[in-house]
Amino acid sequence: MTTNNLIIFDTTMRDGEQSPGASMTRDEKLRIARALERMHVDVIEAGFPASSNGDFEAVRAIANVVKDSTVAGLCRANDRDIQRGIDALKGAKSWRIHTFIATSPIHMEKKLRMTPEQVLEQAKLAVRYAKNACPDVEFSPEDGSRSEPDFLCRVLEAVIAEGATTINIPDTVGYAVPQQFGEFIRRLRERIPNSDRAVWSVHCHNDLGMAVANSLAAVVTGGARQIECTINGLGERAGNTSLEEIVMAVKTRADFFDLQTRIDTTQIVPTSRLVSQITGFVVQPNKAVVGANAFAHASGIHQDGVIKARQTYEIMTAEDVGWSTNKIVLGKLSGRSAFKQRLKELGIELESEDLVNKAFQRFKDLADKKAEIFDEDLQALVTQEAGASPEERWRLVTMNQASGMGERPHANVVLAENGAERSAAAEGDGPVDATFKAIEKLAASGTELLLYSVNAVTQGTESQGEVTVRLAKGGRVVNGIGADTDIVVASARAYISALNKLASKMERLNPQHQL
Ligand code: KIV
Ligand code: ZN
Repeated sequence: MTTNNLIIFDTTMRDGEQSPGASMTRDEKLRIARALERMHVDVIEAGFPASSNGDFEAVRAIANVVKDSTVAGLCRANDRDIQRGIDALKGAKSWRIHTFIATSPIHMEKKLRMTPEQVLEQAKLAVRYAKNACPDVEFSPEDGSRSEPDFLCRVLEAVIAEGATTINIPDTVGYAVPQQFGEFIRRLRERIPNSDRAVWSVHCHNDLGMAVANSLAAVVTGGARQIECTINGLGERAGNTSLEEIVMAVKTRADFFDLQTRIDTTQIVPTSRLVSQITGFVVQPNKAVVGANAFAHASGIHQDGVIKARQTYEIMTAEDVGWSTNKIVLGKLSGRSAFKQRLKELGIELESEDLVNKAFQRFKDLADKKAEIFDEDLQALVTQEAGASPEERWRLVTMNQASGMGERPHANVVLAENGAERSAAAEGDGPVDATFKAIEKLAASGTELLLYSVNAVTQGTESQGEVTVRLAKGGRVVNGIGADTDIVVASARAYISALNKLASKMERLNPQHQL
């Protein structure tokens, strides 16, 4: 029997984190987990505990603080992975082991080098092992949409018999087409005798831009009642099903879907911003629901229509999804308690008093330069402080640079390395280039710069620039974030933050490179 409750399973911190460059620190993951909980996401997949000690710690920390959502961890179908998952998750109020093994001919033969019978046996053993420790077990046949239906039915029937409570069919390579995929799920449910003992779920990738459509077809035609998705559609390659699009489709077209979710939609935009800031993955302006232009009416005809009656061109309101007009919240004279109170209202909890002090100092510095401080400014400065590595090998002491038309830009930088100050100067193609070269003269890090991006935090030329720098070295990819009203200073901060993360002993590799 299917119900009309649609379970929202967020995998931003697991599949989303597998996008190259999107890896997050434990504290960044905690902030995202709190935002997802505030949004009332049903299941938060917090990570892949066996992939690294860092991810194990992040999943454990999330399991210990989240109370209103189930916390899940992904585990390959073997005892070691599952035991790591159990150890990371068992402190949670509600937890789930999510185990997977590939079932498509190409994955079994070329990747796993296992026969179908061996895969079937391993899937059963894995679910049995997980079920001994945890009543809530999800099983995914990886590359399910390209698996042979008869074999898939045998595997799924067997794992349900072992106690799997959720069956999740992944379209791992984004190959599915909506009508076909919906039928595929429907036939699996019809053919498997014990299918009604599990909740059916789908997990779609967006390689052909159909992840949201495929997920909704699986719900409407196939009877699936859980969708796995990510904030901003983050995820491997072209990403996953986007949470905000699913939730708003179901809400806006309730007449068609007749489904409900628990999601507080007003938390969508703040959470989207948070994920974008932390990962450095900018949201395209025309992205549905969370893009900057999603509710902007530029043409005269549209503006005229919206002024006369909003519904002429708007099917949902900006307020419904949490867009707020920039509000001045704090100023130069605001004290520490007003600052802390506003962070609390924004749902930002800093881990330690030390972090609060550092963020407050940064707020005071910012208020000296910028008369009006908006929520977005607070988010940016907290993201910078909370995202910083706890081990700060490099600290920016001071810097200046000069550039002008027809002149070669030049930068001077003073850094403290473990407390000892050193300076360097360099020329470059632009002021940022010169600054990075000067920093590199001191750090000699040998890293590769993968991404440099600048975003205005608020509107107007006095806005802070928020810079993301993505560096790679020896298989590790890290993001550094810096915000300042001077974008060259923001750039230097971001670069140094990334260097500190690379220098930190925290074992935190992108799960993708570990497996
Ligand atoms: O895409 C995929 O197949 C996955 C599974 C592990 C669920 O992410
Ligand atoms: Zn996936």
